[in-house]
Amino acid sequence: MTNTILNHRSIRKYKKKKVEKELIEKILEAGIRASNTGSMQAYSIIVTQNSSKKEELLPLHFNQEAVKQAPLILTFCADLNRFNKWCELRGAKPAYDNFLWFYTASIDASITAQNCALEAEANGLGICYMGTTNYTAEKIIDVLKLPRGVIPVTTLTVGYPDETPSLTDRLPNNAVIHYEEYRDFSEIEINKIYKEYEESDFIKKIVNENSAKTLAHVFTEKRYTKENNIHFSKSLLEVVKNQGFWNH
Ligand SMILES: Cc1cc2nc3c(=O)[nH]c(=O)nc-3n(C[C@H](O)[C@H](O)[C@H](O)COP(=O)(O)O)c2cc1C
Repeated sequence: MTNTILNHRSIRKYKKKKVEKELIEKILEAGIRASNTGSMQAYSIIVTQNSSKKEELLPLHFNQEAVKQAPLILTFCADLNRFNKWCELRGAKPAYDNFLWFYTASIDASITAQNCALEAEANGLGICYMGTTNYTAEKIIDVLKLPRGVIPVTTLTVGYPDETPSLTDRLPNNAVIHYEEYRDFSEIEINKIYKEYEESDFIKKIVNENSAKTLAHVFTEKRYTKENNIHFSKSLLEVVKNQGFWNH
């Protein structure tokens, strides 16, 4: 498993070959084995293989090549719908129509997704997460017919890899690990942490392609802009409210 983890790279090009039914079941089983809040399994997994459903999802993932090519799309949802129904049927009043439970169920959904990702990779498949799920959640809800209490949190494209990209860089461990207490960063430390990253040819190429001043500018001015962040925050908050997680 450690090898699988350390060899992880996101795969965005897939062979046409379908993922076998037994293997899909194995991947889902790995997801379901994940830790989950209070054994409530506050998530659902929507399996998309049907090409017409995939076509409906594709624009909602901004027509990304990975979604176009992958034979299997898994959408992981925060889900209190099923649990709430069970509580009500038993005469217990559900208490999960609030932001805490959107957050909690999103953690369940994310942990489940990563278990599925690792099982897929351990079996020779490639995966890529789709952050677009959070941008277009409202429309994904329509396409996947998600009832109140259910919000898509993340998506995995899954299939047999048709590329072997290099491993992507990570910051030095001391950028992300703090022992006992958070040790905040001085200007010198920030410069040091990002130096190797900024000086790599791969990153320099990205900066050039984006005609940006630095890599930080690629993030703030091109990839994740304030305008888009505010726009998508507002639409996601609407989804949280409309799906019944803001009753307070
Ligand atoms: C929550 C999340 C959302 C992501 N969204 C996208 C996406 O929409 N498109 C994409 O091509 N990659 C996406 N990725 C993949 C990241 O770009 C990738 O994991 C990162 O660049 C590190 O590369 P690696 O996975 O190959 O190690 C996403 C990853 C995560 C965890």
